[in-house]
Amino acid sequence: MHLWRFLLPSALGFTARNAGHALIDKISGAPARTTQAAKFASLHAQPGDPEDVLRTLDRFAMEKRWLMSVGPEKGPLIEELAGRLPPEARVLELGAYCGYSSILIARALGPGSTVVSVEVNADAVSSARANVELAGLSGQITFLHGPSTDIISQLDGTFDLVFLDHWKDLYKTDLQLIEKRKLIRRGSIVVADNVGKIFSPDDYLDYVRNNGQYRSENRAGTIEYTSLPDAVEISQYNPQPDSVSR
Ligand SMILES: C[S@@+](CC[C@H](N)C(=O)[O-])C[C@H]1O[C@@H](n2cnc3c(N)ncnc32)[C@H](O)[C@@H]1O
Repeated sequence: MHLWRFLLPSALGFTARNAGHALIDKISGAPARTTQAAKFASLHAQPGDPEDVLRTLDRFAMEKRWLMSVGPEKGPLIEELAGRLPPEARVLELGAYCGYSSILIARALGPGSTVVSVEVNADAVSSARANVELAGLSGQITFLHGPSTDIISQLDGTFDLVFLDHWKDLYKTDLQLIEKRKLIRRGSIVVADNVGKIFSPDDYLDYVRNNGQYRSENRAGTIEYTSLPDAVEISQYNPQPDSVSR
């Protein structure tokens, strides 16, 4: 990863503001950011209205504290992919944070579809559950608390869409584990957030672009709630020999 890029002049304003907020929260003993976001949503969003819950979380991220949710700029891209899935689709998400992308995806899915979202941080799991309940989508989304690699080893069945949005250095190895456990099948879509130059998970990009098992496409965007460049990689799993010989 090239996190030093957060110190470039174009990113310095964002980095300083975010570090300042983190320091103020630490000194004042404020709750975790995800807890603050869920509290804000509970006070300001319309219960049972996923759109309004997302809008309210966006407002929190822009007016109060930055959130690493996928956000309103890259969000519609993920939503469009989810909207194209057949009824009773299954989605696996690695990295739930506040539950923003879980809500975004779940509301785009067809009838009978479900989302399983894996999150290692306990505060984040509680906040995600609270936001999803507020949005009225608890019946569609299950949060599993624990490290992705452990949880992937316990999952069954296949997923139509996998959204990789946890720590970038785990993207490649977790995807390989997902393949090994046959949790994706031919045609499944794997979407990876934050693959732009700043985070730059080069090993992952090299893997999905060059190992002959995926048709991969890159979409430019910006880091959530900023104008800093970012990108999303959309890869369709094509493990059959015909794709290898093409
Ligand atoms: C970028 S945020 C996820 C944002 C969320 N997908 C959204 O758009 O609303 C990354 C999250 O991944 C979680 N995470 C990091 N490493 C993880 C791991 N190994 N297993 C599960 N969750 C992990 C972090 O705790 C954090 O909440």
